Amino acid sequence: MGTSNGQSWDVICSDLEATRLVAGLLAVVLKPGDVIGLDGELGAGKTHFVQAVAAQLGFDPAQVTSPTFTLIQEYATAPPICHLDAYRLHDSDEFLELGVDELLGGDVVCLIEWASRVADVLPKDYLQLNFETLSESSRRISFVSNGPRSQKLLDNVRAAYSRQ
Ligand SMILES: Nc1ncnc2c1ncn2[C@@H]1O[C@H](COP(=O)(O)OP(=O)(O)OP(=O)(O)O)[C@@H](O)[C@H]1O
Ligand SMILES: [Mg+2]
Repeated sequence: MGTSNGQSWDVICSDLEATRLVAGLLAVVLKPGDVIGLDGELGAGKTHFVQAVAAQLGFDPAQVTSPTFTLIQEYATAPPICHLDAYRLHDSDEFLELGVDELLGGDVVCLIEWASRVADVLPKDYLQLNFETLSESSRRISFVSNGPRSQKLLDNVRAAYSRQ
Protein backbone atom coordinates (compact mmCIF):
# COMPACT_ATOMS: atom_id res chain seq x y z
CA MET A 1 0.00 0.00 0.00
CA GLY A 2 1.22 3.51 -0.67
CA THR A 3 4.27 4.46 -2.67
CA SER A 4 6.86 3.86 -0.02
CA ASN A 5 10.36 2.75 -0.90
CA GLY A 6 10.95 2.04 2.76
CA GLN A 7 11.67 -1.21 4.47
CA SER A 8 9.00 -3.40 5.91
CA TRP A 9 8.59 -5.90 8.70
CA ASP A 10 5.68 -8.31 8.96
CA VAL A 11 4.41 -9.78 12.20
CA ILE A 12 1.66 -12.36 12.55
CA CYS A 13 -0.68 -11.77 15.49
CA SER A 14 -2.56 -15.02 15.97
CA ASP A 15 -4.96 -13.63 18.56
CA LEU A 16 -6.03 -10.38 20.21
CA GLU A 17 -3.42 -10.77 22.91
CA ALA A 18 -0.65 -10.91 20.30
CA THR A 19 -1.94 -7.74 18.67
CA ARG A 20 -2.02 -6.03 22.07
CA LEU A 21 1.55 -7.11 22.72
CA VAL A 22 2.85 -5.61 19.47
CA ALA A 23 0.88 -2.41 20.08
CA GLY A 24 2.39 -2.20 23.55
CA LEU A 25 5.90 -2.54 22.16
CA LEU A 26 5.24 0.33 19.76
CA ALA A 27 3.61 2.45 22.47
CA VAL A 28 6.70 2.56 24.65
CA VAL A 29 8.98 3.83 21.88
CA LEU A 30 6.63 6.55 20.58
CA LYS A 31 7.74 10.17 20.84
CA PRO A 32 5.78 13.40 20.40
CA GLY A 33 5.56 14.17 16.70
CA ASP A 34 5.46 10.55 15.56
CA VAL A 35 2.81 9.85 12.95
CA ILE A 36 1.42 6.32 12.50
CA GLY A 37 -0.89 5.37 9.65
CA LEU A 38 -3.15 2.32 9.98
CA ASP A 39 -4.81 0.69 6.97
CA GLY A 40 -6.68 -2.50 6.33
CA GLU A 41 -10.23 -3.59 5.64
CA LEU A 42 -13.14 -3.02 8.01
CA GLY A 43 -12.63 -5.03 11.18
CA ALA A 44 -8.97 -5.70 10.49
CA GLY A 45 -7.99 -4.45 13.94
CA LYS A 46 -6.92 -0.81 13.53
CA THR A 47 -9.03 0.56 16.39
CA HIS A 48 -8.13 -2.40 18.55
CA PHE A 49 -4.45 -1.65 17.99
CA VAL A 50 -4.89 2.02 18.97
CA GLN A 51 -6.79 0.94 22.09
CA ALA A 52 -3.83 -1.20 23.09
CA VAL A 53 -1.35 1.62 22.44
CA ALA A 54 -3.40 3.93 24.66
CA ALA A 55 -3.77 1.24 27.33
CA GLN A 56 -0.01 0.72 27.44
CA LEU A 57 0.35 4.46 28.09
CA GLY A 58 -2.10 4.26 31.00
CA PHE A 59 -5.34 5.30 29.33
CA ASP A 60 -8.54 3.33 29.89
CA PRO A 61 -8.96 1.37 26.62
CA ALA A 62 -12.73 1.32 27.13
CA GLN A 63 -12.67 5.06 26.45
CA VAL A 64 -10.92 4.54 23.13
CA THR A 65 -13.66 4.26 20.55
CA SER A 66 -13.61 4.42 16.79
CA PRO A 67 -13.35 8.05 15.61
CA THR A 68 -15.25 7.17 12.43
CA PHE A 69 -17.82 9.87 13.17
CA THR A 70 -15.96 12.17 15.57
CA LEU A 71 -12.97 12.13 13.17
CA ILE A 72 -10.53 13.29 15.89
CA GLN A 73 -10.14 12.10 19.49
CA GLU A 74 -7.41 13.03 21.92
CA TYR A 75 -6.25 10.92 24.84
CA ALA A 76 -4.37 12.44 27.78
CA THR A 77 -1.50 9.98 27.73
CA ALA A 78 2.21 10.81 27.86
CA PRO A 79 2.95 11.54 25.10
CA PRO A 80 -0.62 12.61 24.25
CA ILE A 81 -2.33 10.60 21.53
CA CYS A 82 -4.41 12.04 18.75
CA HIS A 83 -6.59 9.33 17.18
CA LEU A 84 -7.95 10.15 13.73
CA ASP A 85 -10.04 8.34 11.16
CA ALA A 86 -10.09 9.33 7.49
CA TYR A 87 -12.70 6.76 6.45
CA ARG A 88 -15.54 9.22 5.98
CA LEU A 89 -13.49 11.99 4.42
CA HIS A 90 -13.78 12.69 0.72
CA ASP A 91 -10.29 14.04 0.20
CA SER A 92 -7.14 15.35 1.86
CA ASP A 93 -8.46 18.93 1.87
CA GLU A 94 -11.27 17.84 4.16
CA PHE A 95 -8.65 16.26 6.39
CA LEU A 96 -6.65 19.51 6.53
CA GLU A 97 -9.82 21.47 7.30
CA LEU A 98 -10.01 19.56 10.59
CA GLY A 99 -6.93 21.51 11.66
CA VAL A 100 -4.65 18.49 11.60
CA ASP A 101 -1.71 20.57 10.37
CA GLU A 102 -0.98 21.64 13.95
CA LEU A 103 -1.27 18.09 15.21
CA LEU A 104 0.85 16.25 12.65
CA GLY A 105 4.45 16.33 13.79
CA GLY A 106 3.50 18.53 16.77
CA ASP A 107 3.52 17.70 20.47
CA VAL A 108 1.29 14.67 20.11
CA VAL A 109 1.51 11.21 18.61
CA CYS A 110 -0.94 10.89 15.72
CA LEU A 111 -2.50 7.51 14.96
CA ILE A 112 -4.58 7.71 11.78
CA GLU A 113 -6.99 4.99 10.64
CA TRP A 114 -7.38 4.81 6.84
CA ALA A 115 -4.26 6.96 6.51
CA SER A 116 -3.67 5.93 2.88
CA ARG A 117 -6.64 8.12 1.93
CA VAL A 118 -4.80 11.22 3.10
CA ALA A 119 -1.21 10.07 2.62
CA ASP A 120 -0.40 13.03 0.36
CA VAL A 121 -0.73 15.48 3.26
CA LEU A 122 1.01 13.41 5.94
CA PRO A 123 4.58 14.19 7.00
CA LYS A 124 6.83 12.27 4.63
CA ASP A 125 8.51 10.18 7.31
CA TYR A 126 5.52 8.46 8.91
CA LEU A 127 5.25 4.81 9.94
CA GLN A 128 2.61 2.85 8.04
CA LEU A 129 0.92 -0.24 9.49
CA ASN A 130 -1.04 -2.44 7.09
CA PHE A 131 -3.47 -4.90 8.68
CA GLU A 132 -4.53 -8.05 6.91
CA THR A 133 -7.16 -10.47 8.17
CA LEU A 134 -5.83 -14.03 7.92
CA SER A 135 -8.59 -15.76 9.87
CA GLU A 136 -11.19 -14.86 12.46
CA SER A 137 -8.56 -14.37 15.13
CA SER A 138 -5.34 -13.94 13.18
CA ARG A 139 -3.92 -10.76 11.63
CA ARG A 140 -0.79 -9.89 9.68
CA ILE A 141 0.53 -6.44 10.53
CA SER A 142 3.09 -5.04 8.08
CA PHE A 143 5.20 -2.16 9.37
CA VAL A 144 6.46 0.04 6.52
CA SER A 145 8.94 2.85 7.07
CA ASN A 146 9.11 5.99 4.97
CA GLY A 147 12.35 7.53 6.21
CA PRO A 148 14.89 7.46 9.06
CA ARG A 149 12.47 8.42 11.82
CA SER A 150 9.90 5.75 11.01
CA GLN A 151 12.69 3.26 10.30
CA LYS A 152 13.97 3.77 13.84
CA LEU A 153 10.49 3.09 15.24
CA LEU A 154 10.25 -0.04 13.10
CA ASP A 155 13.71 -1.23 14.21
CA ASN A 156 12.88 -0.61 17.88
CA VAL A 157 9.62 -2.56 17.72
CA ARG A 158 11.18 -5.40 15.76
CA ALA A 159 14.07 -5.66 18.25
CA ALA A 160 11.72 -5.57 21.25
CA TYR A 161 9.54 -8.24 19.64
CA SER A 162 12.49 -10.56 19.07
CA ARG A 163 13.42 -10.25 22.76
CA GLN A 164 9.96 -11.49 23.84
N1 LIG B 1 -5.58 -10.76 16.31
C1 LIG B 1 -6.50 -9.78 16.30
N2 LIG B 1 -6.09 -8.48 16.29
C2 LIG B 1 -7.01 -7.49 16.26
N3 LIG B 1 -8.33 -7.67 16.23
C3 LIG B 1 -8.80 -8.93 16.23
C4 LIG B 1 -7.90 -10.03 16.27
N4 LIG B 1 -8.64 -11.17 16.27
C5 LIG B 1 -9.91 -10.80 16.25
N5 LIG B 1 -10.04 -9.47 16.23
C6 LIG B 1 -11.32 -8.75 16.19
O1 LIG B 1 -11.38 -7.99 15.00
C7 LIG B 1 -12.12 -6.81 15.24
C8 LIG B 1 -11.28 -5.60 14.94
O2 LIG B 1 -12.11 -4.48 15.02
P1 LIG B 1 -11.55 -3.01 14.92
O3 LIG B 1 -12.67 -2.10 15.26
O4 LIG B 1 -10.28 -2.88 15.66
O5 LIG B 1 -11.26 -2.94 13.33
P2 LIG B 1 -10.90 -1.67 12.46
O6 LIG B 1 -9.78 -2.09 11.58
O7 LIG B 1 -10.67 -0.48 13.32
O8 LIG B 1 -12.20 -1.49 11.58
P3 LIG B 1 -12.83 -0.15 10.93
O9 LIG B 1 -12.23 -0.03 9.57
O10 LIG B 1 -14.29 -0.45 10.89
O11 LIG B 1 -12.50 1.02 11.82
C9 LIG B 1 -12.54 -6.82 16.71
O12 LIG B 1 -13.84 -7.37 16.79
C10 LIG B 1 -11.53 -7.78 17.33
O13 LIG B 1 -12.03 -8.43 18.46
MG1 LIG C 1 -11.55 1.42 13.37
